[in-house]
Amino acid sequence: MVTYREASPLDYKKIAELHVKSWQQHYRGDFSDHFLDVEAASEREGVWKHRLTSPSPDQYVVVAEQVSGICGFACAYKNEDVQYGTLLDNLHVSSVVKGLGIGKHLMKLVAREVLRNDPNAKMYLWVLENNVGAIGFYERLGGVNLETVVGNDIGDKEVRKCRMVWDSLELLAEDDGHIII
Ligand SMILES: CC(C)(COP(=O)(O)OP(=O)(O)OC[C@H]1O[C@@H](n2cnc3c(N)ncnc32)[C@H](O)[C@@H]1OP(=O)(O)O)[C@@H](O)C(=O)NCCC(=O)NCCS
Repeated sequence: MVTYREASPLDYKKIAELHVKSWQQHYRGDFSDHFLDVEAASEREGVWKHRLTSPSPDQYVVVAEQVSGICGFACAYKNEDVQYGTLLDNLHVSSVVKGLGIGKHLMKLVAREVLRNDPNAKMYLWVLENNVGAIGFYERLGGVNLETVVGNDIGDKEVRKCRMVWDSLELLAEDDGHIII
């Protein structure tokens, strides 16, 4: 069974571990091997420790959990951008449980949290241009691929990244009746 809850400060190490593993599996070639295999673990642990022990008021982190531990997470910053709204900064699901509806459910929980404060809220995120699987997933969930830019906010290489936007979160927040076992 998969359950969902807001992250607590005790979760920072487990989330960081899942985050790094997912980067290693999906961003190989986009970032250097040295960054992924040597630097990312301490970089992510520092980021997640800070996020969960000193959360900004607009931060929302939700985790998916099985008996074996955390198997997915999403991190969003409400009202991050005047034009595009809430930033979904991270969404990762363990490769062991991909394709079971967990990513979609995490997106739904984020959408609901955002709409709770602002019924007209919008949302956006950045996804690597090479990450065609995730782009397909976001498009399936109503995201529109608005633009591609070059940046290097993570890692040690410039990457091409796409801005996906949702002008309305109503559909995303709807109950999909998905049962997760
Ligand atoms: C992208 C990711 C979060 C998706 O999570 P998931 O739990 O595997 O996806 P779900 O099972 O919730 O899929 C939801 C829907 O999207 C569809 N979908 C998933 N990938 C798709 C794709 N590449 N193209 C089209 N549809 C896709 C599913 O078929 C499902 O459709 P349904 O609602 O009709 O059943 C997950 O695969 C992941 O963590 N990937 C690696 C990390 C990553 O790239 N994160 C994004 C960083 S920006």
